[in-house]
Amino acid sequence: MSLVKTSLPKRRFDAVIVGAGGAGMRASLQLAEAGLNVAVLSKVFPTRSHTVAAQGGIGASLGNMNEDNWLWHMFDTVKGSDYLGDQDAIEYMCRMAPQVVYELEHFGMPFDRNPDGTIYQRPFGGHSANFGEKPVPRACAAADRTGHALLHTLYQRNVRARTHFFVEWMALDLIRNAAGDVVGVVALEMETGELMILEAKVTMLATGGAGRIWAASTNAFINTGDGMGMAARAGIPLEDMEFWQFHPTGVAGAGVLITEGVRGEGGILLNCNGERFMERYAPTLKDLAPRDFVSRSMDQEIKEGRGCGPNKDYVLLKLDHLGADTINKRLPSIAEIAQKFANVDCSKEPIPVVPTIHYQMGGIPTNIHGQVVSPKDGDSNAVVNGLYAIGECSCVSVHGANRLGTNSLLDLVVFGRAAGNHIVESGLRAGNHLELPADAGEATRARVAALDARVGGERTQDVANEIRNSMQKHCGVFRTGDLLSAGAKEILAIAERVGNVSIQDKSKVFNTARIEALELDNLIEVAKATIVSAEARTESRGAHARDDFPDRNDNEWLRHSLFYSEGNRLEYKSVQLKPLTVPSFEPKKRTF
Ligand code: FUM
Repeated sequence: MSLVKTSLPKRRFDAVIVGAGGAGMRASLQLAEAGLNVAVLSKVFPTRSHTVAAQGGIGASLGNMNEDNWLWHMFDTVKGSDYLGDQDAIEYMCRMAPQVVYELEHFGMPFDRNPDGTIYQRPFGGHSANFGEKPVPRACAAADRTGHALLHTLYQRNVRARTHFFVEWMALDLIRNAAGDVVGVVALEMETGELMILEAKVTMLATGGAGRIWAASTNAFINTGDGMGMAARAGIPLEDMEFWQFHPTGVAGAGVLITEGVRGEGGILLNCNGERFMERYAPTLKDLAPRDFVSRSMDQEIKEGRGCGPNKDYVLLKLDHLGADTINKRLPSIAEIAQKFANVDCSKEPIPVVPTIHYQMGGIPTNIHGQVVSPKDGDSNAVVNGLYAIGECSCVSVHGANRLGTNSLLDLVVFGRAAGNHIVESGLRAGNHLELPADAGEATRARVAALDARVGGERTQDVANEIRNSMQKHCGVFRTGDLLSAGAKEILAIAERVGNVSIQDKSKVFNTARIEALELDNLIEVAKATIVSAEARTESRGAHARDDFPDRNDNEWLRHSLFYSEGNRLEYKSVQLKPLTVPSFEPKKRTF
């Protein structure tokens, strides 16, 4: 029996935010404190959102340990992005960073402290003083649990501000009217299986990343690209999806994140000869070069036979020389992870690590106010009325082709706050709701009803695992045209099968199986966008490294890709090289 009703119930809010991670809750706080009626939907309890897993810190040029400057932060971010980041957005983020961190401090976030009471900061990959001269401590840290501290702080403030949380609700589709305005979402209450329309003057996607399109990932199982799937099905393009970051230090065989903060505290990477190989690849920043650099160097060491272990397929992260006191004080969770996932006492032995998928630089295109932009009538910056996107599911683009560590937490709070402010300042509260189209929710209801009714199809997890294995095989740290074109063929063939999965064992795990099948609709959108965009980009830039096109090619490729799901079509748009107030950082060869 289908659990779908014939007529969908409705609720109305000023704003509906999909996702309760750092971005969603920073935006909802801004809105709720301004008196707007805000609903936040989350597949999990808000403090279990994936932001909770962020470890090492949030970047801001506070200068608490050494001299620092937002312009140096901006330079590092532009260079880190391999010049694909939009410099107006990067300037905005780096200038705002100290302010948003002090706000978090005033909200009660328990940062680690220096003896003089200021916020403790540690060095992180690619962050430098004086335009690349030497590493600078810029990561504001709460031990190695910074995301945990941030998320709990924001949740508590939201409870105080009376944000309405819809816990264990999954948004399925955007509702657009005939003019293309977004007027709300159709969502599923996971416990009951009921669908509901949440009508809103603004809808905001803050659903995080989609690292679960890979087999080995630092991401939570909830990271299935739901916001991007919703956007893609609504005809909105996905930007720069070929750029995915491999974090250098995932626990070998387990994928669990070991923070870059370990290297920030003085940890080093070693090959099987005991050599600190990063000295050869990045003589200035060494182990603290940006992640794309370090991941490629590790891969190279392994490929050239200098990996460790019986299969020579990982390198070692040594931190015993930091001493038990530093490890216990600054890196307590790492000690626990090393013990549980690698069976290693890291105060005595090194941790086996491999580059592991961690973060997507691309996503739903937005401007610096968080408004979703989708080219229309020759205007590449046309705004989709009523729709915002923030955080990892969005592409503003501050990370370009490669993100610097600590800039993800920063992106969440800077642009969550900016989007909230933009909505408040637009006077939205006083306006009326746009009318819902007569058939609102019907397509979603039909999609869910067809899924419920289908018998004898493939199992969701089999199709999902094929996506993951294919992405893992064809779209790694180093890519080639042959691999990518085989991967694209495979993923597009799998896409044809997604509409044929059926929910098995309904009586036992009906809702769980149904959720996983609905997530599959989103995973496939992200996988398609990634592999098609990657095959087309015939250059190496940031995290997109092609053996067959080893150089960056600014003449042809200094541009953002836009992938449209319908027809698997690509368009391109230019990079904003002009910052808001300072001169541009012109593209240069990246050395560290
Ligand atoms: O290494 C880390 O702690 C991860 C931080 C980040 O992705 O920004």
